[in-house]
Formats: sequence, C-alpha cells, structure tokens
Amino acid sequence: MRPAYGPGAAESPGPCCHNGGVTRASLDKQPHEVASMFDDVAERYDLTNDVLSLGQDRVWRREVAKAVDARPAQKILDLAAGTATSSLPFARTGAYVVPCDFSLGMLRVGKRNHPWLPLTAGDATKLPFKDDTFDAVTISFGLRNVQETDTALSELYRVTKPGGRVVICEFSHPTWAPFRTVYTEYLMRALPPVARAVSSNPDAYVYLAESIRAWPNQPELAEKLRKAGWSKVAWRNLTGGVVALHRGFKTA
Ligand SMILES: C[S@@+](CC[C@H](N)C(=O)[O-])C[C@H]1O[C@@H](n2cnc3c(N)ncnc32)[C@H](O)[C@@H]1O
Repeated sequence: MRPAYGPGAAESPGPCCHNGGVTRASLDKQPHEVASMFDDVAERYDLTNDVLSLGQDRVWRREVAKAVDARPAQKILDLAAGTATSSLPFARTGAYVVPCDFSLGMLRVGKRNHPWLPLTAGDATKLPFKDDTFDAVTISFGLRNVQETDTALSELYRVTKPGGRVVICEFSHPTWAPFRTVYTEYLMRALPPVARAVSSNPDAYVYLAESIRAWPNQPELAEKLRKAGWSKVAWRNLTGGVVALHRGFKTA
C-alpha cells in the first residue's frame, strides 16, 4: 500500500480513494479524479485556503482584481472559479462575471453562498461559450489542475473578444534560492499535517504540494500563453514568486 504522506507519496502514480470516491488526483490529472477531489474538499475549501496560505490568499486576490481591472457592464469569465470566492472582486465592480467550473460540488457551495451569481458548469478544455464573448478572462489557482493546459489557454483565447485580456493567477516558483528552499520544505513537510487538521480531505493537499512543484516556471508559462496566441505577455511575482500573475492580450 502506498503511503499518503512522505517520500513514497511523491512518486505514487495513482489517486487515493475512500468510500469508493477519489480523494486526491495524481499528477496525470485525470479530469474525473480532479473534479471528484474538488467535490470532496468543497465544504471547507475557503477556510482551508485561508489557513494554509497564512491569509496571503486575500492579498493575492486583491492583486488579481487590480490586474483584471473589471469595469461596470464588462463581461468577465472566471474559469475554474470553484466556490466563486475568486469571482467576488469582479462582481463588486459592477461587471457581469460568469464563474465556471467542472466540479459540481464546488459549484453547489458557490451557489449556496452567492445565489445571485450565474455559476456555470463547464470544462476548461471545451468551454460552453461562443467565440469572442468576454472582455476579460481569468483563472485563479485553476490552470495547474487542468490536464490539457495548452487546450485551456486556446479555449480562453477563443472566447475572449479581440482586444480583450487574460489574467492567470497561479502558484509558481520563488525566485530567491534560499527562500525557494524554505518554501519547498513548507510545501512538502508542514503543509500536509496542517491540512490534516483543517481540511475535509488532507490527501488533496499532498496533490497540491506535488502539483506546485511540477508546474512550469514563470518564463515557461509565458511561452505557453504566446503559443496559444496571446500577445504582449508579461508576468509579475507576488510573495517572492510563490504566486505569479501572467497577463496577455488578444490582438484587436
Ligand atoms: C484550487 S481551485 C480554485 C478555485 C477558485 N478559482 C479560487 O481561486 O479559489 C481549482 C478549481 O479548478 C477546477 N478545475 C480543474 N480542472 C478544470 C477543468 N478542466 N475545467 C473546469 N474547472 C476545472 C476545479 O474543479 C477547482 O474548483
């Protein structure tokens, strides 16, 4: 049997299960495993975020809102919106924000907490929207979980109006080597026990640590955006590169 934590977990190829359901995805990110894992953490998702990020998630969300710069009556797609917490800053500006996700469990919690939002079920690799629909598209802590990253970036491009923008907020790689070492230690050693105390599904947070380590660095993600068609691609590091905000534009 594979260990849930510790060195063996990092090499493990498969998901863990309980009561017949998937509790954590593996790094090949099978969509049904990812959706099932988020269904499982949905109830305590927002609380766990606050605790594990030491409250930094609120700072990061403020920066995303500034980067998206949503205006009244603009149409904004918040992809992989989960419980729609990431959608709220855009809604507050008077923009029309569509939170979209493929975990029905996360959407259910979102609908209960924010019944006025048009939460929409949809897969990032096959978005249920017409071409050239949104003024801005954004995805916070979601892209890393999508199996086909390049397809999702192309789909985001397709549904954006010419002249529109994308903002991606995702965990990244700290740029200062000593800090990177301390942070990696936090991810691999401190995070799983803290998650065990707070989350409804601590195994999901082993996946979190593994998927962050395996995720492309800042220039590599920028290159993916360019390949999907986005222009004027740039990024900004937050918290020393723990998180990076990438932005790009669809040529008018
Ligand atoms: C870490 S949560 C982020 C939720 C929210 N954006 C936030 O910042 O709190 C990641 C979300 O990505 C969603 N997701 C992963 N792959 C997806 C896909 N292919 N299509 C749609 N949603 C996806 C999951 O269901 C999950 O709700």
